[in-house]
Amino acid sequence: MCGIVGYTGCCQAAPILLEGLTRLEYRGYDSAGIAVRDEGAPRIEVVKAKGRLKNLMEMTDSGRAVRGCCGVGHTRWATHGEPSTVNAHPHDSKDKRVVLVHNGIIENHQEIREALQRKGYVFKSQTDTEAACLLLDSYYAESMGGDLSPRERALDAIHRLMIRVRGSYALGILFGDQPGVLYAARKDSPLIVGCCSEEMHGHMIASDVPAVLGFTRNVVYIGNDEIACLTRDERHIYNIDCEEIEKPVTEIQWDAAAAEKDGYEHFMMKEIHEQPRAVRDTLSPRIKEEEEKRFIDLSETGLTDEDLAGISRVYMVGCGSAYHAACVGRVVLEQLAHVPCEVDLASEFRYRDPILEERGLVIFISQSGETADTLAALRLCRECGVRTLAVVNVVGSSIAREADAVMYTWAGPEISVATTKAYSTQLCALYLIAVKLASARGQIDEARQAQLIEDMLALPDKIERVLSDKERVQWFANKMAACKDVFFIGRGLDYAISLEGSLKLKEISYIHSEAYAAGELKHGTISLIEDGVLVVGVATQPALFEKVVSNMTEARSRGAYLFGLTTYGQYAIEDTVNFTVYVPRTDPLFATSLAVVPLQLLAYYISCAKGLDVDKPRNLAKSVTVE
Ligand code: G6P
Repeated sequence: MCGIVGYTGCCQAAPILLEGLTRLEYRGYDSAGIAVRDEGAPRIEVVKAKGRLKNLMEMTDSGRAVRGCCGVGHTRWATHGEPSTVNAHPHDSKDKRVVLVHNGIIENHQEIREALQRKGYVFKSQTDTEAACLLLDSYYAESMGGDLSPRERALDAIHRLMIRVRGSYALGILFGDQPGVLYAARKDSPLIVGCCSEEMHGHMIASDVPAVLGFTRNVVYIGNDEIACLTRDERHIYNIDCEEIEKPVTEIQWDAAAAEKDGYEHFMMKEIHEQPRAVRDTLSPRIKEEEEKRFIDLSETGLTDEDLAGISRVYMVGCGSAYHAACVGRVVLEQLAHVPCEVDLASEFRYRDPILEERGLVIFISQSGETADTLAALRLCRECGVRTLAVVNVVGSSIAREADAVMYTWAGPEISVATTKAYSTQLCALYLIAVKLASARGQIDEARQAQLIEDMLALPDKIERVLSDKERVQWFANKMAACKDVFFIGRGLDYAISLEGSLKLKEISYIHSEAYAAGELKHGTISLIEDGVLVVGVATQPALFEKVVSNMTEARSRGAYLFGLTTYGQYAIEDTVNFTVYVPRTDPLFATSLAVVPLQLLAYYISCAKGLDVDKPRNLAKSVTVE
């Protein structure tokens, strides 16, 4: 979704802003802009362009044509108003007295717009952001001529803005009469300050760490309702009452290389290949050994065995692939721990007035830790007083900070919009929780626990084996790139993985696809099966194998072309299907971790064969910070 970068220091700002925005491209956007203040110039210069960043680069000679050492930049993912130059950020008030970039949504923008129009303000765009910009301008103008210092005036105006607007925001702000000073503020939308190294001397702001990593690893996380005032030499952070507060500087442990393509053509392929490492990093620190016995240690969550034994019901909540991970988690958890588990899409959970048991545990799953619906669902649960646990990838993100406890998935930075390694690590976190819960409640004995742990630890090598056979999937994908409709079918865990396989395909290849519980096919969908329609049947669960295969046969009888995905040993599938991919055997409860890989590869190769933008699919965003 939208991205913010800002810089004030001793270097030319525009190239730094463009470089930072490039690092945020993966979040998804449809226009971009920068605003830079040259100390000698009468006013701030704003340049904006619809479409990709390269348009902005061309217009500004890669930033060289826009002079000045202080500025803000933005990539916009349209919400209010179509993607266009005029709706692109930065937005500005008359004579560029206030210039502002914004992530999030101003919910009461219409009412603010009307009030400002009555005062004579003229709006240029259809955005909610312009309402915030002009409102700030009006507050700033009101304090003109008083005895406040420029900084006090700016802080006072920002403070008033923060009280007046409803919604979520991260703001980067320049005032026309304060050259070299960069302001920022946030509520419910991420924002960091980067403290630049010696040679760059200065400060940055950004909505996400990768934007500053090329320049510094030292960051300050701006909290909710906080304001930052930055110059080349100074950094001041204030609370909403404009009282200065101390904030620690955190050193980011991963470096810019982790966010580079590393020789792969796309981030998605790189991230698919990082799965063995990511899975290992997520599992191993939580598997301990004492007296030759392995056990799962989730002490980081603060949940004791007693707490776990007392849990009456588990709820899992997420969006997109995180929801699909929850669908897998439910099956594994119910089978192993015998605790009832409900799974919800975050956007639905909030509005269904969920009945939450007092001894329940709600698990929030999110790669970014910033998804608006998941965050809102978490807040709802906190208000109800039910215990919450976050399974999150981005360290220090809002969901991680606000939940009672957090269990990080150690996938590392994920850049491709279509998630792969983060999803795989979410599965592992849920396996760990399920096995731990099962053992704390006495539902599995030591031998079963030991076997499950061994099978989990073997997953990285097995994923590696699946990856070594990727050319086979590539060959099939090239053959299928022109297809129009694809159905993914499976039962139980194989249905859960079908949901993810179908999402991967549609998001990056733009081919219509649907996932169906295999037994449901004949209750409607089978009418869509005709000659040449591709049906991907997932059959990794021995107990359900024959049933899925017979559902595939029903589809073949209506002309479907069949892709079978199963485990080594289940060779009978070849009598039914046109093409088969086998994955290594594991405990059936963990088979999803292996079956997902060929499905990721299928989507990836089809997208490549169609010549699409694999890492940045149209209309999609990596981190969805609006409802
Ligand atoms: C977006 C992404 C998906 C992701 C979903 C939930 O739609 O494109 O890949 O699964 O958001 O995001 P989260 O960061 O909460 O896991």
